[in-house]
Amino acid sequence: MAEPAEKPPAVARRRPRRAGGPAPAAKTPAPAGQDWSSWPTYNDATLGFRDFWYPVQWARRIGSKPMPITLLGEKIVLIRDGDTVRALHDRCPHRGVPLSLGRREFEGSISCAYHGWTFDLKDGRLGAVLTDGPESPICGKISVRTYPVRERLGLVWVYIGDGDPPPVERDIPAELTENAFVMGGRTDVRKGNWRFAAENGFDEGHAKYLHNTALWRLFKVMPAWNMTRVIESGSWLIRVQDEVHWEADYPGYGTWSNKRWWKRMPLPDHPGKSADVNPVIKKMNIPGFVSIRLPGLLRVAYPHFIHYEWYVPVDADHVRYVQIMVRFEDGPKAAVFKAKYLSWIRWLFHGQFTGQDAWMVDVMDAPPEKLYRPDLSLTAWRRHIEKSDLKVQHARGRLER
Ligand code: FES
Ligand SMILES: [Fe+2]
Repeated sequence: MAEPAEKPPAVARRRPRRAGGPAPAAKTPAPAGQDWSSWPTYNDATLGFRDFWYPVQWARRIGSKPMPITLLGEKIVLIRDGDTVRALHDRCPHRGVPLSLGRREFEGSISCAYHGWTFDLKDGRLGAVLTDGPESPICGKISVRTYPVRERLGLVWVYIGDGDPPPVERDIPAELTENAFVMGGRTDVRKGNWRFAAENGFDEGHAKYLHNTALWRLFKVMPAWNMTRVIESGSWLIRVQDEVHWEADYPGYGTWSNKRWWKRMPLPDHPGKSADVNPVIKKMNIPGFVSIRLPGLLRVAYPHFIHYEWYVPVDADHVRYVQIMVRFEDGPKAAVFKAKYLSWIRWLFHGQFTGQDAWMVDVMDAPPEKLYRPDLSLTAWRRHIEKSDLKVQHARGRLER
């Protein structure tokens, strides 16, 4: 397998300058504390981290027609081969045409659209060359790279890493492998680097302001400000609220609050504090509402359901946003949840609410940055990455063997 050929830019994406705008100013280095030099691994991780399983698409959407995706900068083609989903590097080694344009001439194989080089889906081996006869001497001498694939939670998971992969369950929250549940979800590719999306998810300050216009929060008050700390628990970082303030007087300006007469006070700031909690969620004993873990998974726990969102790096400027809402129920309660999800949760929460996040992730332009007190959630996440043993993904060269 080829080694990384090229390093990605060291800092996050900059927004393109508009045509006709002012000429670029001479580049001056950001003052200390405003750039990401304190987090060198994170700064380098434009394309994310290797050696993890990533959810990439709903399993039901993968059929015998090849589907191209990009994952951590790598071009991959997904194809269903009988009961199994296969993943191959999406590049024919002959002249570099995407294999995802190819045809399925024979069971278990794909033939490149250009000259009919035919690769076994299972191991990527060049098994036949249709335009060079049955004795083609190049047969068996070339392969395209294949990727480990699993199906869990109705999603296809692809492993980007070296050597034998760990069980996919390592990268799925234990509560989702140990309990029965019902879920609804959405996936889409959004603009912005995956790190902005992850930081936005774990960002302490923004929901109280950005989301106070969301329909999802129409009848629930959000705090004006909190005093927060971040604790580590197993593989998770958890935001814990020490103080919650519903309104405040800002000297020289006046009072600001999200309270309105039609809004009821929200649920307690962590699910266990609620009088009525789902037993599975209660047992999880999470001391805060929002948690994050590597390689980029957010968990927002409510007393009766949990929302998860994965920030899967696509390339430097795009992130695959996989969001699911889970209820640990079966029988009629599960059916009611399914109906509710499809009729409004999908549109209000997984649509408009998280669409506000997508808007910010797209327009954000940092570093440089000047952080404020609630940003301790961001710095805790970055520190967590620095002290973890991670392999940064760099732009890949050609991957034929
Ligand atoms: S480019 Fe694929 S067969 Fe020629
Ligand atoms: Fe948000």
